[in-house]
Amino acid sequence: MNKAVLSVFTGLGLLDEAFRREGFCVVSAGDIVTGQDIRNFVSTKDSFQGVIGGSPCQEFSGLKPASLKTDYSQLMIEEFKRVVLESDVDWYLHENVKGVPDVKIKGYNHQRLIINQGWFEPIQRLRIIQFGCKNGGHIEIETKKILKECDSLALASDKRPFYELKMLQGLSKDFDLPEFTLAGKKKMVGNGVPLSMGVVIASAVKKFVNKNNKNNSLNMNFVTDRTVVFITLKSVLKMVAMKLTALILVASLKQV
Ligand SMILES: C[S@@+](CC[C@H](N)C(=O)[O-])C[C@H]1O[C@@H](n2cnc3c(N)ncnc32)[C@H](O)[C@@H]1O
Repeated sequence: MNKAVLSVFTGLGLLDEAFRREGFCVVSAGDIVTGQDIRNFVSTKDSFQGVIGGSPCQEFSGLKPASLKTDYSQLMIEEFKRVVLESDVDWYLHENVKGVPDVKIKGYNHQRLIINQGWFEPIQRLRIIQFGCKNGGHIEIETKKILKECDSLALASDKRPFYELKMLQGLSKDFDLPEFTLAGKKKMVGNGVPLSMGVVIASAVKKFVNKNNKNNSLNMNFVTDRTVVFITLKSVLKMVAMKLTALILVASLKQV
């Protein structure tokens, strides 16, 4: 049985939605904008198969002046790592901007991939996906040709109208966040992982999980087969030993 996936720094939940579309059951630890600070979240061991999330990236993007930078984004990466270790998951997937440091976690191998949104739609934007897993596997995302050169990208600080940002991120025109101000809505949508890209990432993880499950069941069968051979051999040896004992007994009785 596949366990659920834990989403952290959920934001609008675009990355979660992409994983759901690929058949994963996703549960969320929430987001600070809706009152859930990751620093107060305590996970449980053995409940989840993987952790996904894009931690805040402001300090890693070239857009913020050096004088205004803090260590907040790095602190949030440490929180991401803590949740992965606490949950003791098989794999993790971290999404962020180009300047993000490596998110390496003890006990997991580490893969860093650059994905261009321009492979999926006419928007140029680089995203860094970092994937780690316990068993030495990896994910494969096909590098594609950029569809069309274009400098348009949805940003958290985007000046364009809300409906345009929704379209860029793959959201329906009816999508709304009524409890947020217009600036808040645009920030949430601009922060999200576009659905077209999220689905490709989630599909690559699904392939990894399926392959992993298949290998595990093969190993289980191997153990089962070996166990059956061992039990059969043990019973044959027991029978031979009993027969020999009986023969010796009969022979010694005959001598008497
Ligand atoms: C890059 S966005 C995530 C976008 C999301 N992956 C999506 O596809 O919609 C980062 C999110 O981290 C949230 N965040 C920042 N600090 C946080 C904290 N201490 N605890 C929980 N969430 C936090 C922000 O509010 C923001 O929504």
